[in-house]
Formats: sequence, structure tokens, C-alpha cells
Amino acid sequence: MGVAVQVEGLTKSFGSQNIWSDVTLTLPPGEISVLLGPSGTGKSVFLKSLVGLLKPERGSIVINDTDIVRTSEHRLYEIRKLFGVLFQDGALFGSMNLFDNIAFPLREHTKKSESEVKRIVLEKMDMVGLQGAEGKLPGEISGGMRKRAGLARALVLDPEIILFDEPDSGLDPVRVAYLNQLIVDLNAQIDATFLIVTHDIGTARTVPDNLGLLFRRNLVMFGPREQLLTSQEPVVRQFLNGRREGPIGMSEEKDVAQVEAEMAALEARGGDSHNGVGPKGASGGEAVPPQLEPSEGLPERQGARRRQERVARMLHEFDETTAEAIRRSLPEDLLARAGAGAYEPTTDASGRHWAAQPDAAASTATAVLPRRQEGHG
Ligand SMILES: Nc1ncnc2c1ncn2[C@@H]1O[C@H](COP(=O)(O)OP(=O)(O)O)[C@@H](O)[C@H]1O
Ligand SMILES: [Mg+2]
Repeated sequence: MGVAVQVEGLTKSFGSQNIWSDVTLTLPPGEISVLLGPSGTGKSVFLKSLVGLLKPERGSIVINDTDIVRTSEHRLYEIRKLFGVLFQDGALFGSMNLFDNIAFPLREHTKKSESEVKRIVLEKMDMVGLQGAEGKLPGEISGGMRKRAGLARALVLDPEIILFDEPDSGLDPVRVAYLNQLIVDLNAQIDATFLIVTHDIGTARTVPDNLGLLFRRNLVMFGPREQLLTSQEPVVRQFLNGRREGPIGMSEEKDVAQVEAEMAALEARGGDSHNGVGPKGASGGEAVPPQLEPSEGLPERQGARRRQERVARMLHEFDETTAEAIRRSLPEDLLARAGAGAYEPTTDASGRHWAAQPDAAASTATAVLPRRQEGHG
């Protein structure tokens, strides 16, 4: 099972330029989370901080009880082995064929025999749908195949956390759909913790368990997908609907009067449902579409099961629209337990919806909800 990543009060600057401040979120183990945000808000900087390639000046990133912001180089090296990272362009070596590219981490970091290496490489290539392409050079294949090769390489050390930096960039909508299915299928097979940075609204709406948005040097929101998809927060709505009207400007932020005028005009045209234009996958439909499921023949996602239990405990923390959307995703037994008051309201007023880790011992950032007897009916 994947491990949790607990980020608390994280702040990163380059010189006098603050990138983001006080970012707090937990990636629950084995769940899929998506991080959205306008270009240049520091999403890639966040991913690089998680793997210890960049050092935030304040806050903590706790993985397996180690705060990697403050740990020794040696321990950081160990923790890094838990990660698989898919960089934006696949980051393949152009002069190496796919086999050697994918074998690279195994040859660098392990003492496995060449026959072991071959077995693992072929297995991962098979998992990502690249069987038979071992001899190809990165320049000879499509962008979609290069992403798959990058993903196979990210898988060879059996990571417990996988970070995807804009896996859909440069792909056509059909290839994005295939890649999204692959991501969900991989999650079902390996139960690792996934974090995907993307601009694709269709991906954000259908793939993750949890969804977050970075804007103006802050994490505006991070929580169960239903929370963002039903949110009335102007920035969240603007981003998810891919429209010009709203607080996000072409390069910088807009002033309040301008935003208000835009919103009034949008309202007069009938609001988002009649907006007409929008990014891929944003064209109307229900606010919370069904989540992608693993392909037939694959096991169900254990992360999705754990998540149901987790969000059932948090129901009372959301407004009615969000709570109702979450209820629709829950099985009968959990609904009955939540309905019977099996889950008490948390006393933590900070509203940290993202952190509830049901059975973990009282961890710092987590409001652990006490468990009453299991109710039925
Ligand atoms: N190593 C670095 N040194 C200085 N500034 C950087 C460095 N890496 C990123 N930045 C700056 O941080 C900001 C956020 O970058 P990035 O994380 O790439 O944005 P995003 O991935 O959200 O598009 C940008 O203004 C970028 O110029
Ligand atoms: Mg980036």
C-alpha cells in the first residue's frame, strides 16, 4: 500500500520571490489526488519539493515519520526511493532505446542481474501498453508513447508514491482519455499514492479522489473531489469552467471592480452552463460526473475503498451540496453508519477536510474522528 504524504505549513521562495505560503494538505495513502493551478503558480516547484529536489524554507513534509525538509542527506536518499516521478516531457535519454531508458534506474540503484532487469522492464512495459517497443528510440515514437515510457521508468523501482507533472500536456483528447484510464488501472494494480498536476479539467473532474487548487501563492482548497466540483468559490469555479470572467487574469490578478462587472455580465448571459467555450472536458453536464473505474478484469481500487470510509467520517464537515454529492458515492453500509451518528463531529474547528486518516493514531495535522459502535439501519 502507498504511503501518506503530510504537508504542513509549507512555504517556498526563490530569493525575494515567494512562490507559495503555508501549504497544508495530506495525500491519503493509495488515493489519487489532482493539483490544479494557473501556469506559474508553482505546481512543479511543489512536486520538486516533495521529492526533496528543492528545499522550502518553512514547514514540513512528513513521509513515513520522516520530515524530509529537515532530514539528513542519507535519509532523504532512502525516502526518494519511494517515489516514481513522471516529468512533463517523459525526460527520456534521446540516444537510448526504450528498454535501456526504462532499465536505467534499476541499473543505477540496484544490483539486479541483467535477466532480472529484463524481466522487470518487460513487465512494466507491458503494464503501460508498450510491449514490443523495446528497441525504439524516443525520437521515433509518439508523444503518448513517450509518456508511457516515462511512466514505465517511474514504475521499475516499485514506488509507493507517484508524481505526474502534466502527464496530459501535448496529448490529444483521445490520448488523454487513454492515459487517464491507464493511471486509474495502475493505481488499482499497485495501490500507490498518486499526485497528478494537470491543466485538463476533464481529468480533474473524473480521475481523482481528491482535488486541490493553487492560486495567488496559496492552496485555495484541497479536499474530496466533490468539495471542489460543487464549490461556489469564485476562483475554483472560474478554473473548473475555464472561463475568462473571474479573479484569474491573463497574466496578473484583476481588481475587484472588474471582476464584479464580469461576473454580472456572465450571470446575465445565463452563467456557466451557457458559457459556450471551455477547456477539454468542461462542457457542461453534471457538476460531479462519475469517477473513472479500473478496466474490466482488474481488481477494484483499494484506495477508493479506504476513501469511502474516510469521507463518510467527514460528511458533517461539508455544506449540504457537497455532502449530498459525497453521499451519492457511498455504499449503503457506510451511509447507514454515517446516518446513525456513528461518526461524531470533529472538535477541530480548522476544517482540515483533507487530513482525516481514520485509524491513524492522533497525528498532528489530523482531526481523528472518534468511533462509536457500528450502527446498522
Ligand atoms: N530553480 C528556480 N529558481 C528560481 N525560480 C524558479 C525556479 N524554479 C521555478 N521558479 C519560478 O517559480 C515559479 C513557479 O514555477 P513552476 O513551479 O514551474 O510553475 P507551474 O509548474 O505551476 O507552471 C515561476 O515563476 C518560476 O520562474
Ligand atoms: Mg509546471
